[in-house]
Parts: sequence; structure tokens; C-alpha cells
Amino acid sequence: MATKRISIHGEWSSRWAFVLAATGSAVGLGNIWKFPYITGENGGGAFVLVYLMCIAIIGIPIMMAEIMLGRRGRQSPINTMHTLAIEAGHNPHWMWLGWLGVVAGFLILSYYSVIAGWALAYVFRTASGTFTNVTPDGVGSIFSTFLADPESLMFWHTLFMVMTMLVVARGVNGGLEKAVKFLMPALFVILLVLLGFAMSSGEFNQGLSFLFNPDFSKINANGVLIAMGHAFFTLSLGMGAIMVYGSYLPENASIARTTFMIAAADTTVALIAGMVIFPIVFANNLEPGSGPGLIFQTLPLAFGHMPGGLFFGTLFFILLTFAAWSSSISLIEPAVAWLVENHNMDRMKASVVMGISCWLFGLLTVFSFNIWSDYAPLSMFERFREKTLFDLLDYLTANIMLPLGGLLIAVFSVWLMSGEASRDELGMGEGPSYLLWRFLVRYITPVAVIIVFLRAIEVI
Ligand code: TRP
Repeated sequence: MATKRISIHGEWSSRWAFVLAATGSAVGLGNIWKFPYITGENGGGAFVLVYLMCIAIIGIPIMMAEIMLGRRGRQSPINTMHTLAIEAGHNPHWMWLGWLGVVAGFLILSYYSVIAGWALAYVFRTASGTFTNVTPDGVGSIFSTFLADPESLMFWHTLFMVMTMLVVARGVNGGLEKAVKFLMPALFVILLVLLGFAMSSGEFNQGLSFLFNPDFSKINANGVLIAMGHAFFTLSLGMGAIMVYGSYLPENASIARTTFMIAAADTTVALIAGMVIFPIVFANNLEPGSGPGLIFQTLPLAFGHMPGGLFFGTLFFILLTFAAWSSSISLIEPAVAWLVENHNMDRMKASVVMGISCWLFGLLTVFSFNIWSDYAPLSMFERFREKTLFDLLDYLTANIMLPLGGLLIAVFSVWLMSGEASRDELGMGEGPSYLLWRFLVRYITPVAVIIVFLRAIEVI
């Protein structure tokens, strides 16, 4: 057994703290905001099925691989990859995989913070009774008026980014861990309350059938790519977030068990969110494919018409903000850890530097919804014809950078790293579960990612 490294950033206080933090990272806007709207845009059931398959055969094995690499390297993803590549007798240029992750995390956070700002703004709207007895047209126009105002989007984006910097600056135990302990269970409970509402007042059966009745004529290769990209996005995989969290994981925790818990919690939250949103969509004749505004145009309707809606609605958007918060911190943690390790910065300074740069970049997203809403930089390509800067950022990160990162992580963990090292770190012995993991990561994941990529660019 190689000598174990120690992280200079500290360690989670227990295995549970890690599970909570990683679940906090995984469960976020991806589950409640993005999953329903991309499911709506891609026709429902078939998309959901592909997404679930990607979670099972790509997401779970890659999550185990990422945690394993992180715990073995015990540094920021850049330095972890550098160290592990040398340890395995390979080229230290593997550290570029860490860089790919840092850039992806930066780009994702830049728009994530803007959307989280919407959730924050909706806390106040809901609390002040804006949605009481509102009509479907009313919610729609409240939302579009909001988006049309860059200053207001900028204000909430700023507030959210400051919140993120504050937690990251406080460090592994002080900041990250404390923030998630209460919030995740509370979010889950309120989703169940909403599910009750959707069952009693929405078109529940129609919603369920939209989600779970696959119609394969409604999904194309690009839809499959989006489903796969989302499996990475929702589990926070492919850019080192889970790797860096894994680097703070105590030695004795089981990687396989923790991974299952995280993936199960994440998937459950997404499916419940879908079961809440679509019955409301159909009951109010809304358009399932209406895009990123979907939850902001459906849930306020529910809150505006249910008993206690003011209370539950406000609480819901508070919790959504918290879910986004516990995810956003993991998006810049790899970069912050690297600045601390290589540039001798304290966490405070590193968080401020990253936060401000990311905030600036986020303005591209802010303007995508108003002054630049007609600007489609890649309109010469059919597929990107109507895509705004925000759409392109989302497409590039979720559908290209994350799966590419995941592919390289897979290749590194089983083709380059020694079997002895991965067995030692995963700690499952040499039994069937280890062999299954190895098989999935060695063959299935890389082949699946490559096929989906090639199909999406119409090479095969
Ligand atoms: N998983 C989060 C969500 O679903 C977003 C997120 C956090 C993320 N960290 C990440 C996505 C790392 C990709 C990579 O909202």
C-alpha cells in the first residue's frame, strides 16, 4: 500500500458530512430547474429513460472513479491529476484534465449564479403576495418583465455570488459542511408537500404519462446527448467537483456506498420535481417545452392557488436558493483549492478573486435574456441557430466539456492507473462489484460517451 497523503485543506468530519456535502453539490438547480425544462423540450418519457440509463451505467461508475482519484491525490484536481499521473508512471500533462474541469466549473458557475438569482428574487415576489390568485398569463408576464430588466437580474446575480464567496472563503468544515446539514432534508419535505398539491389539483396522470411513457419518435441524437450531458451535470461529474470533495473524504469511508446514496437522492429529487411540474403544466394548458422559465411559470401558479401558498411558496424558493448555494460552492472549490496550493493565497483571497471573475463573466448570461436576447453568435450552424450566449454556454459545458472530462477520468482510472491502486482506494476487494465497476468504466462509459458524441455530430 502506498503511503497515504493528507489534504492541506482539511477533511470532512465524517462520512455523513461527505454524503451531505456531495448530495448538496449534486442536488441543485439541475434537478429542479433544468431537469423539468429539458425533459419538456425533448418530449418527455424517452428522454427520461435515456437520462436514467446514463445515471446508472455512466454516472454512478464515474462518480466512484472521481471520488477515488480525489481521495488518492488529496489535492485540487489539477495537482491530483499531476501527482497520480506521475505515480502511475504516465505523463504529468494529465493535469490538463484538472484544468478542463476548472474552466468548466467557472463557466457553469457564471450562469448558474444568474439563475440562482432568479430563485432568490422569487423568494421576495412570493412572500409579498405577487402570485396570489394569479392567472397563467399573469405569471408569464411577471417572468418576462423580470427578465427584460438587466439591472434587476444583475442585482440578484451579485447577491448570490457574494453568498457563494462567503461560504467558500470559510473553508471545508466551517463553511461547506454547515450549510448543507439542514437544508437538504427540508427541501425534500417541501417537495413532498408540492407533490401532494400536484396530485390533488393538477393533471397528475397526464403528467406521469408524459414523464414515464417513452415515445422514441420524440427523441433524436441531440436529445440523447443532452440527456447524457445532464446525467453528468446533475451528479456534478466530469469537472473535478466531486473529485475535490473526495479529496476531503476520510480514509475509512466506503466509496461505493456513499456514491449510491448520493445518486439515489439526486435522482429522486429530479423525478419528484418532474412529477410536481408537469401535472401543473397540463392543468393550466402551459407549454412543456417553454424553456428555462418553466418552473418560474408553473410553480407560482400552484402557490397562488393552494392553501398556505404564500408560506409554502416562499419556503420553496428559499430552499431552492439553498440547494443552488450548496451546488455553487462545489463549482469553484477546485479552482480555489488550486489557488491556495499553487499561489500561496489564503482561502479568503482565492474565493474573492474567483468570485469576482466569475461574476463578470456571468454578465454575458444576464444580457442573454434582455439586451442580447436576439444575438445568436453561432447562427450559421443550423443546430445553434437560435441559441443565445447563455444557451451556448450551457451547451458547451454540460453537453461537451463534462462528458469529455468524464471520458478522460474513465480512461485514466482504469487504463492508466494500476488495478492495485484503484482496488486499494475503492476498498471493495476483488469481488464482483469491483469487477463490474472496472468493466463499466473500462469499456461501457468511454464507448457510450464516444458513440453519443459521434451520433450527435452526425458522423455515425
Ligand atoms: N449538480 C448541480 C445541479 O444539479 C450543479 C453542479 C454543481 C455541477 N457542481 C457541479 C454541475 C459540477 C457540473 C459539475 O444543480
